[in-house]
Amino acid sequence: MADGTARRMMQQRQPERIVSGQAYDEDARIDVSVRPKRLEEYIGQKRVKENIQIAIDAARSRGEALDHVLLYGPPGLGKTTLAQIIANELNVPIKTSAGPLLERKGDLTAILTSLESKEVFFMDEIHRLQPAVEEVLYPAMEDFRVDLIIGQGPGARIHPFQLGHFTLIGATTRAGLITAPLRSRFGIVHRLDFYEPEDLLIITHRSAKILNIQMDEGGAEEISRRCRGTPRIANRLLRRARDFAEVRAAGRITRAVAQEALAMLGVDESGLDEVDRNLMIALLDKYAGGPVGLGTLAAALSEEEDAIEEMYEPYLMQLGLIDRTPRGRVATPRAYEYFGRDLPRRQPRLF
Ligand SMILES: Nc1ncnc2c1ncn2[C@@H]1O[C@H](COP(=O)(O)OP(=O)(O)O)[C@@H](O)[C@H]1O
Ligand SMILES: [Mg+2]
Repeated sequence: MADGTARRMMQQRQPERIVSGQAYDEDARIDVSVRPKRLEEYIGQKRVKENIQIAIDAARSRGEALDHVLLYGPPGLGKTTLAQIIANELNVPIKTSAGPLLERKGDLTAILTSLESKEVFFMDEIHRLQPAVEEVLYPAMEDFRVDLIIGQGPGARIHPFQLGHFTLIGATTRAGLITAPLRSRFGIVHRLDFYEPEDLLIITHRSAKILNIQMDEGGAEEISRRCRGTPRIANRLLRRARDFAEVRAAGRITRAVAQEALAMLGVDESGLDEVDRNLMIALLDKYAGGPVGLGTLAAALSEEEDAIEEMYEPYLMQLGLIDRTPRGRVATPRAYEYFGRDLPRRQPRLF
């Protein structure tokens, strides 16, 4: 509860970042139209896709429910999309909920007891389940059983209830926060990675086509390069570039139009925005390149530690600008170069 409240406050306080992988209201609408529905439309993530395809084929040919699936990785990389695709490919219904929405055991039990055999139950943000609620999942996942409590007080009885063989698909941005007993009950576990530039090009072109946006190859390249390896951000930048193109450039997204539109939004050529730059500059200048602890860095930027770990760092690490070490965060030589700082000299060794 406390965690949920803190997070809501945090989300309210923060202005919407154009380069955040988090979904905003506007994305939610667009997501529906551009979201791939079949596995063959799901671009990239080759290894994950192959493994999922095999698991789906095997489950179908045996006529059984698919094993429980855990998908993890930064926001906007396609976890929800993949869960819906799995249900589609299995030709089964899907019910959706999220860890923070299930406040009591009864909330979860009500959903579990309503699931049909082979149905997919998608649970987003599964790392935010209350411990007591999470415990309901263990026998449900393992033995397809929930314990119903009938009556109250000393006369209450436990009544085991047999569930249909459903498939739980859990999604999380924070695999490290999943408890060991929960994790061990997933038969299929996949991490989604940032997308390769060539995959992002395909995704950007695909979305432009669906949304009827005119864009040339140069425009697509600029958007793909600045979207932080994240399809949701590619789709968002595409829409912003279209707005700009309609007002200033006869509706067509060329390289120059994309560059100008994204520069106006404060997104640089690698997809960094002001928040990233502030973080890197604090690390480079205020803390001499580190190592500096996460807590110190968070305080210096008036940010939540969580937000830094979940939203900023993964991409900065992917770009090779920041490293996590046991003693704290450090700026890499590449960061000095990127931000035009001289590399510090090593301290001379006295012995
Ligand atoms: N592999 C993919 N191919 C094409 N588009 C994708 C892919 N993955 C994600 N997207 C696009 O990005 C959007 C966000 O994906 P989503 O599944 O909601 O991310 P997550 O649940 O990981 O935050 C989707 O609406 C979809 O348009
Ligand atoms: Mg999602």
